[in-house]
Amino acid sequence: MTEGSILVTGATGTVGSEVVKQLSDKGKIIRAATRSASDNTFRNLNSVRVVQLDYNNPGTLATAFKGVEKLFLLTPPQSTTVDFTSNLVREAKKAGVKYIVKQSVMGADAEPEIAPTPMRLHRQAEKIIEESKIPFTFLRSNAYMQNFVNFYSHSVKTQGAFYVPAGDARISFVDVRDIAAIAVHALTSTNGKHEGKAHNITGGEALSHGQAAEILSEQLGKKVNYINVSDEDARKGMKDMGMDEWIINSIIELFEFAKAGHWSAISPVTEQITGNKPISFSQFAGDYAVAFK
Ligand SMILES: NC(=O)c1ccc[n+]([C@@H]2O[C@H](COP(=O)([O-])OP(=O)(O)OC[C@H]3O[C@@H](n4cnc5c(N)ncnc54)[C@H](OP(=O)(O)O)[C@@H]3O)[C@@H](O)[C@H]2O)c1
Repeated sequence: MTEGSILVTGATGTVGSEVVKQLSDKGKIIRAATRSASDNTFRNLNSVRVVQLDYNNPGTLATAFKGVEKLFLLTPPQSTTVDFTSNLVREAKKAGVKYIVKQSVMGADAEPEIAPTPMRLHRQAEKIIEESKIPFTFLRSNAYMQNFVNFYSHSVKTQGAFYVPAGDARISFVDVRDIAAIAVHALTSTNGKHEGKAHNITGGEALSHGQAAEILSEQLGKKVNYINVSDEDARKGMKDMGMDEWIINSIIELFEFAKAGHWSAISPVTEQITGNKPISFSQFAGDYAVAFK
């Protein structure tokens, strides 16, 4: 492996930052793509070189891809998933990239009639990669445990509650540290055993948001309530937070999908690949407790 030959996109985000950290912990020299060339997120990681890459500025792609052998491909949760992927794959082909690990979503392979919009877009993006003939691995992960930090910790801190239109849906939430561990196995594998595979990645238990609230309460040492809100109230709340219409509709669709039971399956993949049991929600809540206090 030559210097900088793994390019991590979405490197400052929830999953990408863990992928960068775990590759760096393994002593791999990698390139972390950030929108700003002066981003100093990774200043303490010696093996990480920052390269500028903005999906909305195609001119940045060629430089970022120079000499890249393997790509961790992550697109932000936006309506642009397919266009961004198409541009990245075109550039990857030009640069002679030999392997792509794509962050996808569990359910990307669901029947189009029932798949929520983000899942259909992820499947279209997967097809672009398949058609490119570049060897690939798709990480079809379930909902992240870290969503509780990113989206609910503020109201847990201020009101001891979080508000979600999830009913009693059971979801096998996954810790992004497990997703990153599998990404790292795939990106550092020398025998191609992950190529052509779509890994469903989940936690080891399917929990309702009510059960998640009980576990958070135990780990934080204070009562945390889950408030099951109507779709209408959820829409209003998200609008007040300044979220755009596309993401609001997508989130409502995703919770409908979860309520129909499509996100409760438990996959053996994490233990098969890493040799470790998936991180439990209880461990997650303990590790991230400070974010909720
Ligand atoms: N949340 C879930 O539960 C879940 C579950 C399964 C799959 N997924 C999928 O996972 C992906 C999101 O992963 P995540 O939560 O790790 O993302 P995230 O935390 O929202 O981070 C998004 C990353 O993309 C970068 N980015 C945004 N716009 C960009 C642009 N124009 N050019 C270059 N980079 C750009 C961001 O950089 P900046 O720091 O510059 O903004 C950031 O590094 C989505 O595809 C989603 O569908 C999510």
